[in-house]
Amino acid sequence: MSDVTSTKTENAENAEPDDGPPRLTRLTFHGPLSEERADRIVRRLAGAAPRTVLDLGCGWGELMLRVLTAVPEARGVGVDVNARDLDRGRRDAEARGLAERVEFVEESAVGTARGPADLVLCLGASQALSAEEPPRHTAEALRELRRLVADGGRVLLGEGFWQRPPTTAELAGMWPGARADDHYDLATLVDLAVAAGFRPEWVETANADEWEEFEAGYQADTEVWLAGHGDHPLAAETRERLDRHRAQWMSYRGVLGITYLTLIPA
Ligand SMILES: C[S@@+](CC[C@H](N)C(=O)[O-])C[C@H]1O[C@@H](n2cnc3c(N)ncnc32)[C@H](O)[C@@H]1O
Repeated sequence: MSDVTSTKTENAENAEPDDGPPRLTRLTFHGPLSEERADRIVRRLAGAAPRTVLDLGCGWGELMLRVLTAVPEARGVGVDVNARDLDRGRRDAEARGLAERVEFVEESAVGTARGPADLVLCLGASQALSAEEPPRHTAEALRELRRLVADGGRVLLGEGFWQRPPTTAELAGMWPGARADDHYDLATLVDLAVAAGFRPEWVETANADEWEEFEAGYQADTEVWLAGHGDHPLAAETRERLDRHRAQWMSYRGVLGITYLTLIPA
């Protein structure tokens, strides 16, 4: 799976800022999502007036915080296994006066005992809901989302899909072990959501600009750091990591998509 759709944690990425390269400081969302699309999604989700929000694989929980800002009666819980991203979420919540209404919890979301919630978010993190290997994890994640959403609520699932079948050469350039059955096509994915007990309120997909903005932002801070730290002990491995990810991105560019499904439990 790609960085967008996987949990892969890279040690160098988690280096403390003082010790090495910065981490994801140019990203607002940890995925290809524009301000315009985020605004539309937040308006749609807020329209359902959720009182409780559960963000699974939340990272720093930017979209959840925006929903909480839009719905002053709502309370949120974000669950993730990445302590640094959770800390960023807590700092952002504090800065926006949301700290009393949101909790960022460091735990795995697999088999979570939390919920049900009126709004369940799972953005680029379906693997946080299932220990299964792709593509079986997608169906299990959808079953979990159906279990975790309250009657009359909403789920927002941001999930990878193939925009077209990848070639063997493209797969060889993607993440290690990439396979043609790592993802479904969009039609199959939405059918799976329906089979799991949802109706699709809205189906949308990130466009090429959102992908380029995200992938450039994913590396830009580290590229700038590297330019000024050529003799740093971490420079060589950082350069290698940047080159590796850029090559992967060039292989899944235009092939891997991400869809944002706003789902109503049926
Ligand atoms: C691509 S990031 C998306 C983060 C966030 N949803 C967003 O869109 O900004 C995927 C996230 O899933 C988290 N994750 C992976 N496995 C997990 C698990 N078992 N339980 C909770 N979170 C997990 C990772 O730590 C990472 O923060």
